[in-house]
Amino acid sequence: MNNQMRITAIVGSYRKGGVVDTVIDEILNASRAEGAEVTKIYLVDKHIEFCTNCRSCTQQKGKKRGECPIADDMSTILDEIEQSDAIVLGSPMNFGTVTAVMKRFIERLICFAYWPWGMNAPKQRNKRKEKRAVVVASSAAPAFIARLSTQMVGLLKKAASLLGAKTIGVLFIGLAAGKQQQPIGERTRKKARRLGKKLASTHH
Ligand SMILES: Cc1cc2nc3c(=O)[nH]c(=O)nc-3n(C[C@H](O)[C@H](O)[C@H](O)COP(=O)(O)O)c2cc1C
Repeated sequence: MNNQMRITAIVGSYRKGGVVDTVIDEILNASRAEGAEVTKIYLVDKHIEFCTNCRSCTQQKGKKRGECPIADDMSTILDEIEQSDAIVLGSPMNFGTVTAVMKRFIERLICFAYWPWGMNAPKQRNKRKEKRAVVVASSAAPAFIARLSTQMVGLLKKAASLLGAKTIGVLFIGLAAGKQQQPIGERTRKKARRLGKKLASTHH
């Protein structure tokens, strides 16, 4: 029997070793210390096309995600996520929302909705949330001001929900652009490690 938790993190930052990446590493290191198997995916390294709004994936019935006709890295990433017990979604705040690479990824999640022609709004195929998620965001502005001004946390939670995950923690790191290599503070590090541990625990 294999009880090992699998955790997949999606990095929507353009900067490897930047604030979002560093915080995600803290989370994953804490999860790994609890025995979890962790994978980190940098969206910038992947071939992900824009959703063309062809609606082909949304016509298909059933609980399973609809098949997208675009042949790129998206289906492999989604397979990896579907085989995971928990996910981490992280993005800096750019112009008030997630980065363009993260948004491009999120738009492709429409395959998790059923939306045939003639229906006004998409319906999430599977509302069961058997996975857990942690959402990470960063901004140049102080966190409390940034959080008031943005809908990106809700957007990342929505993405987690489409991927079958309930968000159990949000880490919003403000003052993330003061230096070229902005170090993360001790409180952020502690919170990241606590959330990483929580993600890896087998108790729901
Ligand atoms: C194009 C661009 C737009 C940005 N827009 C905002 C913004 O609207 N609000 C803000 O607080 N910070 C903004 N920033 C700062 C980034 O949020 C900050 O550099 C980032 O959170 C650092 O994370 P990283 O180290 O993972 O790249 C912007 C940065 C860039 C490059």
